[in-house]
Amino acid sequence: MKIDGARFLKDLHDLRAIGAAGVSKGVVRPAYSDADIEARQWLADRMRAAGLRVETDAMGNVFGLAEGPSILMGSHSDSQPEGGWLDGALGVIAALEVARAAQEAGGPAVSVVSFQDEEGRFGVTTGSAVWSGQLDQDAADVLTDNAGVSLAEARAAMGDMVTGPVDPTQFTGYIELHIEQGPTLDSSGEQIGVVSDIVGIRDMKITFSGQQNHAGTTPMQLRKDAFQAVSEFNTLLNDRLRNVVTPSTVWTIGHVSLHPNASSIVPGKAVFSMQWRDGDSDRLARMETIIRETADEVAKSRGIELSYGTLLGLEPVAMDARLRDALAQGAEAVAPGKWRKMPSGALHDATNVARLMPVAMLFVPSINGISHAFEEDTDEHDLVAGVEVLAKAVAAL
Ligand code: GLV
Ligand code: MN
Ligand code: MN
Repeated sequence: MKIDGARFLKDLHDLRAIGAAGVSKGVVRPAYSDADIEARQWLADRMRAAGLRVETDAMGNVFGLAEGPSILMGSHSDSQPEGGWLDGALGVIAALEVARAAQEAGGPAVSVVSFQDEEGRFGVTTGSAVWSGQLDQDAADVLTDNAGVSLAEARAAMGDMVTGPVDPTQFTGYIELHIEQGPTLDSSGEQIGVVSDIVGIRDMKITFSGQQNHAGTTPMQLRKDAFQAVSEFNTLLNDRLRNVVTPSTVWTIGHVSLHPNASSIVPGKAVFSMQWRDGDSDRLARMETIIRETADEVAKSRGIELSYGTLLGLEPVAMDARLRDALAQGAEAVAPGKWRKMPSGALHDATNVARLMPVAMLFVPSINGISHAFEEDTDEHDLVAGVEVLAKAVAAL
């Protein structure tokens, strides 16, 4: 099987042009935005041109299907609100190139997918969560983004593309190439990471409701300031989590919405995201207890109200040994001595797909370990090396 590196890179750059933004190679292509839908239409055309049959399910997951049983490869083409050009896009376009190369070589059969809303505008890897049965469509439809738009409203925008459900039993396994999105490979000078397992995640919204009031006349001791509650919660939490976490545990308050968000008003309401990740489900549960106890304590001591949104989560998942070994052999052939086995601290669609079939993942380096930012980038030699490892693994399987 012969990979065409120039053809692969051209497609990757063409996809980047849809929603290109910011400095360097940034993209803004959140799930169901005009740019995301345009990218999915473009991708469907590229799949058809590669001889694949295009089917799109109700969530907007776009599949390019080979005839008969096939191995599924891909990732996602939606981006973070400020994203890089490779997060997701790399895995989709690499899959397309391997599918084309496999056809030119007379086999094996390779199908391609771009999952929808991997970046969690509405939840956590929403498109693959619904496709895999992790999340019911009805439960997904009532999830809302930070602006209050429901998933049901958002996905109506690409209703024209929907053909119906896509049967997972036609696939023998799933392989996803992705940028590492962290510093390990870049700092070690290695070219390839073969993923051992993917961490678990928990994510929920927390709301503190106090009393909106005048910022000049309300004495400090009488305030029910929702921002001060968030601030105190965060400080206490960082201290208390120290007793249960490991150096690889992470937690993030990434979105805060203050109401009414004005200089001269004591904020009456704060809604914020609380997300935590670890490779051990028990630790995730212990962290949840600490998070809830700390928020309860802050609310009580300040006399304000507290409520929680739906707790979304995915368990840690180990990669399939057979697929992983095929990737490891491909890595040794393409980058002898310059690859390693490593866990994934980022979430991926592979976690959901593992409910349905064997899955494995491959990483290439992220320059300076930067991702979820416009500056995200990878040396193009490393991108092509990743596709070559995929091709070798698929041919061997
Ligand atoms: C996926 O992008 C994640 O947040 O890990
Ligand atoms: Mn991604
Ligand atoms: Mn991402």
